[in-house]
Amino acid sequence: MPSPAAIAFEHVSKTYGGSARRVHALDDVSFEIAPGEFFGLLGPNGAGKTSLISILAGLSRPSRGRVRVLGHDVGEDYAAARRCLGIVPQELVFDPFFSVRETLRIQSGYFGVRGNDDWIDEVLAALGLADKAQANMRQLSGGMKRRVLVAQALVHRPPVIVLDEPTAGVDVELRQTLWQFVARLNREGHTVLLTTHYLEEAEALCGRLAMLKLGRVVALDRTSALLSAAAGSMLRFKTDAPLPEALRSRARVTGRIVQLAARDALEVESTLGTLRAAGIVPEDLEIGRADLEDVFLAIMRDAPAERVQ
Ligand SMILES: Nc1ncnc2c1ncn2[C@@H]1O[C@H](COP(=O)(O)OP(=O)(O)OP(=O)(O)O)[C@@H](O)[C@H]1O
Ligand SMILES: [Mg+2]
Repeated sequence: MPSPAAIAFEHVSKTYGGSARRVHALDDVSFEIAPGEFFGLLGPNGAGKTSLISILAGLSRPSRGRVRVLGHDVGEDYAAARRCLGIVPQELVFDPFFSVRETLRIQSGYFGVRGNDDWIDEVLAALGLADKAQANMRQLSGGMKRRVLVAQALVHRPPVIVLDEPTAGVDVELRQTLWQFVARLNREGHTVLLTTHYLEEAEALCGRLAMLKLGRVVALDRTSALLSAAAGSMLRFKTDAPLPEALRSRARVTGRIVQLAARDALEVESTLGTLRAAGIVPEDLEIGRADLEDVFLAIMRDAPAERVQ
């Protein structure tokens, strides 16, 4: 028998609210993540990432469909599914009266794991929390609380690790330590599902990606395939002048910096020609490779802009 997927989403739909204020947060989401994958779930605010993870975690019920974790149905066999999962939630939730170590011991106890202080110490050290073990949760800064949430998710050494924007509001140093640690766990065989708005993190870490828009899967492929299927080149330059109509809709503009995707050398030439014809002299012109942010923006732009009703 083939081994079960680490995570299997099967036709998952989720509708919030009554008839008057109904939101179709997820619409027929199906995909599988194999054991050992480092998988990224991307999408703009409100796309449905946290809704999907809440259903995976058993915190909310799907309106339709089902989810399995290593073969365990989250609805029918919750305890077994939950034990396989370590979830770092997007929202900071914690009990302010316990110390960091107590918080982690309580979480271990919740999963029936005791006497794992060596592992707790290793997790604390890896996340730069060793000197905070005795501190009360309420004494920690926002970024440190997030580190504790990560530690909490890992205390029972779950085979499947789910991180919902673990690096939001986290400083550069911790991001690097966190990714080193999570990458190590992944190398040791843990499956990782990550959501993030930092697309350079997703590009560097995730072997495969799903992109959600308005509750629907609009892209699902290997990261390398998504990158190579997209425009090959990216023109970057500065200008104060308004772009001609023909370029405006496909430009990514950040202040004075303009980025324009081009599939091949011919399109690079024609883009430069359009600029020249409009009397625009691009400053600091560079031609580089398209990155995941370019791919993401192109996919989001081309996907349907209406939620299902
Ligand atoms: N408890 C709820 N009740 C009603 N609507 C909800 C609830 N939770 C989420 N939604 C709606 O469902 C949609 C998807 O939200 P969700 O939090 O899953 O998005 P997300 O992809 O995680 O976004 P973000 O990147 O901002 O975290 C949004 O339209 C949101 O307003
Ligand atoms: Mg979210």
